[in-house]
Amino acid sequence: MSERVVIVGGTSGIGLATAQRLVDGGREVVVTGRRQERLTAALTQLGERAAGELVDATDAAATAAFFGRVGPVDHVVITVTASGGVGAFRDIALDSLRQAVDGKLLAHVATAQAALPTLRGDGSLTFVTAASSGAALPGTAGLAAVNASIEAMVPVLAVELAPLRVNAVAPGVIDTPWWDWLGPDAREATFAEFATAVPVGRVGHADEIAGAIHALVDNGYLDGVVLRVDGGARLRPAS
Ligand SMILES: NC(=O)c1ccc[n+]([C@@H]2O[C@H](COP(=O)([O-])OP(=O)(O)OC[C@H]3O[C@@H](n4cnc5c(N)ncnc54)[C@H](OP(=O)(O)O)[C@@H]3O)[C@@H](O)[C@H]2O)c1
Repeated sequence: MSERVVIVGGTSGIGLATAQRLVDGGREVVVTGRRQERLTAALTQLGERAAGELVDATDAAATAAFFGRVGPVDHVVITVTASGGVGAFRDIALDSLRQAVDGKLLAHVATAQAALPTLRGDGSLTFVTAASSGAALPGTAGLAAVNASIEAMVPVLAVELAPLRVNAVAPGVIDTPWWDWLGPDAREATFAEFATAVPVGRVGHADEIAGAIHALVDNGYLDGVVLRVDGGARLRPAS
């Protein structure tokens, strides 16, 4: 029987690309999101090996009920994102930071907790964080704090929940619908600016992050790892 993977936040961008890779590799996937049109399009794209539901990951009770309905799963990937938390440290409103904490850190925690009763004991749990956690990029202290908090849990959980494998992928700037709020011109300009600061000279593609997540799911000896997939953005030339 093929393995089942739940991708919480699997109807767009990195989550959808991950679902596609896993389906192509012979696994069954269950994807979640909040918007019906994204879910419908994702299920059409993924085909008969995929199922999905609308579940808001910030609703812990709904998430627990969802995992109860899904039943036994082999691997869980959590990609859900949040608004808020961006801006200069001097000015950042605590309410904005709370939005990011609730929408990302607490949603990831509640989802992982909800998954544990039905997640295979020696399966895997993969969080999607962000390279901002270690990028020292002005204006991202809030995002860095939220994503670094999830990353800090990874080695602890890998030991506490063993033999379950617990890992994270920290993407750099990736061309996904997450950036749509900028509008096409500003999006292109932002990507061009980031590209000049990255050794590989471009922003990343969702499928490149999906490849890293796929490796963490597949490789039974990868555990407690935070994998930075950022085109080398973390590397600074000596001045
Ligand atoms: N793109 C980048 O440059 C980048 C860089 C660093 C880190 N990341 C991280 O990568 C992850 C995935 O981002 P992405 O670029 O793939 O974004 P995306 O294209 O906007 O996809 C986000 C996915 O999560 C779902 N989602 C968001 N909030 C949810 C919630 N509360 N409950 C259930 N589903 C939810 C969305 O579906 P609905 O909209 O229907 O809810 C969608 O399926 C995020 O954690 C993000 O912070 C992205």
